[in-house]
Amino acid sequence: MGSSVEQNILVTGGAGFIGTHTAVQLLKEGFKVSIIDNLDNSVIEAVDRVRELVGPDLSKKLEFTQGDLRNKGDIEKLFSKQRFDAVIHFAGLKAVGESVGNPRRYFDNNLVGTINLYETMAKHNCKMMVFSSSATVYGQPEKIPCMEDFELKAMNPYGRTKSQPYSLLWQLFLEEIARDIQAAEPEWRIVLLRYFNPVGAHESGRIGEDPKGIPNNLMPYIQQVAVGRLPELNVYGHDYPTEDGSAVRDYIHVMDLADGHIAALRKLFDDPKIGCTAYNLGTGRGTSVLEMVAAFEKASGKKIPIKLCPRRLGDATAVYASTEKAEKELGWKAKYGVEEMCRDQWNWANNNPWGYQKKL
Ligand code: NAD
Ligand code: WQD
Repeated sequence: MGSSVEQNILVTGGAGFIGTHTAVQLLKEGFKVSIIDNLDNSVIEAVDRVRELVGPDLSKKLEFTQGDLRNKGDIEKLFSKQRFDAVIHFAGLKAVGESVGNPRRYFDNNLVGTINLYETMAKHNCKMMVFSSSATVYGQPEKIPCMEDFELKAMNPYGRTKSQPYSLLWQLFLEEIARDIQAAEPEWRIVLLRYFNPVGAHESGRIGEDPKGIPNNLMPYIQQVAVGRLPELNVYGHDYPTEDGSAVRDYIHVMDLADGHIAALRKLFDDPKIGCTAYNLGTGRGTSVLEMVAAFEKASGKKIPIKLCPRRLGDATAVYASTEKAEKELGWKAKYGVEEMCRDQWNWANNNPWGYQKKL
C-alpha cells in the first residue's frame, strides 16, 4: 500500500468494544475514520474517549454518525457525502443467550444490516471489506489448532444440529454471503477475520469492554467479580479432558486484534488477488478457565471466588488458533500474552468499575 494518509475507512459498530480500540489504532496509523453505530450496545462516551486518546489533531479525522444498518437510508447518507476506500464491519448483536430466545432480532440486525451495507457499498463502488467473523465457525473442532481451511463444522447439517443452535450461526451465514458476493463479482476484496476470544483493554484504561447486564463471557465476568459487582465466578465445567479439567480457549488482547485489522486493510489495498479470504486472529496458545482466573488474580491482587459448575451447553473442550496464515500473509502476529491481557483488563476495571457509567 502507498501512504495511508488520506485513506477513508467506514467503521460500522465502531463505538463498541473492538471498534473503539481499532478506531484508535486506525487514527494513529493515519487513516480517516467514520463510525456508524446505533448505540444499541455502546455509548457515545466511548467515542469521546477515543477522541481523547488520539488527541485533538487526529480527532479531526474521526467522524461519528448515530445510525442503524437496518435502515438503508442511514448508510446511503454517509456514502453519498464521501468516498470510502474500505469498510470494517463490526456492527452486530452478539449476546448468545438472547440470540437463542429471539432469533428474528438477530437475523434482522445481523443479516439484513449486512446485506444493506453490501448493497450500498456496491452502489458506490466501494468493494473492500474487513468482516468480523469468529472462531465459532469451527464449532467443536475435531483437531486443534484450528486452521482456516478446516471444513466449517456447522455447515454440514449433522454438525449444525449437534453443535450449536441455528440462531448462533449468523457469522457462518455471513461468511457464506461474503464468499458468494465475491464469487459473483470478482472485483470485491473481502477479508474474514475469525477472532478467537478477545479480552483486555487499551493500556490507558480509558476504553474497554462494557457489557450491558450480566456478562456472558469469561473476562468481563471475572472483572465484575474483582470490583465487587458480582459475588463469584461460575466455572462452567471441571471435568473436561484438559490438564485442570476446565475448558481451554485462545484469548487475544484487543489491541493485537485492532492491529490485525490494520494488517488486513493493508492486505486488501495491496493484493488484488485476495478475493474472499479468511484469517484466524488468535495467539495460537490455549489457556484454561482456571489458568485465566489465576492470571487475573495475580495481575489484580484480588481473590476471585469460584464455584465449580456443570458444563455450559454447546461449549467446546479446547479451541485455539493456528496463526501461521495470518503471520505469513498478513505479516501480523499477536504481541501480548495472558499477563498483559489481565493487566490491562484490570486497569480498565479498576479505573471504571461501572464501565462508562459515571456513577453506581
Ligand atoms: P460490541 O457489541 O461491543 O460492538 C458492536 C457495535 O455494533 C455496538 O456498538 C452496537 O451498538 C453496534 N450495532 C449493533 N447493531 C447495529 C446496527 N444494526 N447498526 C449500527 N450499529 C449496530 O461487540 P464487539 O465485541 O466489539 O464485537 C464486534 C463484532 O465482532 C461483532 O460483530 C461480534 O459479533 C464480532 N465478534 C466479537 C467477539 C467478541 O468476543 N467480542 C468474538 C468474535 C466476533
Ligand atoms: C470462555 C470459557 C466458558 C463465563 C463466545 C462466543 C464467541 C465469541 C466469544 C462472539 C468457556 C467459560 C465463561 C463464565 C465460565 N463471541 N466461562 N464462566 O464461549 O469461548 O466464545 O464468546 O461474538 O462467538 O461463542 O467465550 O468467554 O463465553 O467462555 O466458566 O461465567 O469460559 O464455559 O469455557 P466462548 P466465553
